[in-house]
Amino acid sequence: MASTRHVLVPWAHLVDRMGGEWPDGLRVDVYDGEGEPPRDLDDVELYVMPYANPGALALLDRLPSLKVLQVLTAGVDAVIGRIGPDVRLCNGRGLHDASTAELALGLMLAAQREIPHWAANQREHKWDPHFTRSLADSVVVILGYGSIGAALERRLLACECEVIRVASRPRPEENIYGPESLPELLPRATVVANVLPSTPATAKFVNAERLALLPDDALVVNVGRGATVDTDALVKEIASGRLRAALDVTDPEPLPADHPLWALPNVLITPHVAGGSSTFYPRAEKFVADQLRRFAAGEELANIVPH
Ligand SMILES: NC(=O)c1ccc[n+]([C@@H]2O[C@H](COP(=O)([O-])OP(=O)(O)OC[C@H]3O[C@@H](n4cnc5c(N)ncnc54)[C@H](OP(=O)(O)O)[C@@H]3O)[C@@H](O)[C@H]2O)c1
Repeated sequence: MASTRHVLVPWAHLVDRMGGEWPDGLRVDVYDGEGEPPRDLDDVELYVMPYANPGALALLDRLPSLKVLQVLTAGVDAVIGRIGPDVRLCNGRGLHDASTAELALGLMLAAQREIPHWAANQREHKWDPHFTRSLADSVVVILGYGSIGAALERRLLACECEVIRVASRPRPEENIYGPESLPELLPRATVVANVLPSTPATAKFVNAERLALLPDDALVVNVGRGATVDTDALVKEIASGRLRAALDVTDPEPLPADHPLWALPNVLITPHVAGGSSTFYPRAEKFVADQLRRFAAGEELANIVPH
């Protein structure tokens, strides 16, 4: 009898996406990150880690035969250091593009058009109009022009913005600048859109010096990771009234109830929800179904991340 490879997936209904049967050669168990995992974990080779469920991380310590860890996040910072060097790590690059780009755009529109202000007035039944900033004609510098950055750019172009792309190194043929160009680019920004991953190289990437290069009234948007911004430096700039911010991610997370960011004017906060929308699960399920087929067939997996 051919040997079977033991796999853990987060959703029982995934089998429906696979034509009612799991691929030949796989023994599939379901673990959704809640409650008791399956009893026999010693031979699990592929673990598709449940999304947005911190409890699911703990299982990593109980999988001695793990060969592939599939996370459904785009960032892999939560699992770095928790798996051996021989375990292949695959991420969810692409699954969050639409959802995260959409929230980044929503934060920009809300901040520029003062939607929180109008919502507060609505609660008081107050009709008190004035002119606002606009997103159209803004210069948006995207820090971390990758998969999500490109999705955000498509939306911003539809909103009649000028977009400046920044990644880890310049690629002039793709109009991408490296961080060394920031002293020339940041003074032009109406909006900085931070989509950076959290790595040792990006820690406090948006620091006091770079914030100081922004023009007065610029908007700092963060949908990447909180640790890529020097929060104290950002708080100082906002408290002085010079800059504004719209943050889906913060450092620390969750943001403590007594943190100064909560109470500052010109700050809009969402609780790390950019990736969590209705577009995520259908895309994630299709991706995992394809990944299981590749794994069963012995093909190269998608979204392998060096670690
Ligand atoms: N808020 C949320 O709910 C949410 C949801 C999904 C993702 N995220 C965050 O978004 C991040 C990006 O996701 P993605 O799928 O777009 O990743 P990606 O395609 O890998 O893009 C990452 C970008 O960051 C750039 N970068 C990496 N290190 C850098 C450095 N030291 N200096 C300047 N640029 C650097 C990369 O440049 P190169 O191309 O030159 O390598 C690339 O442009 C994730 O890692 C995650 O932290 C947040």
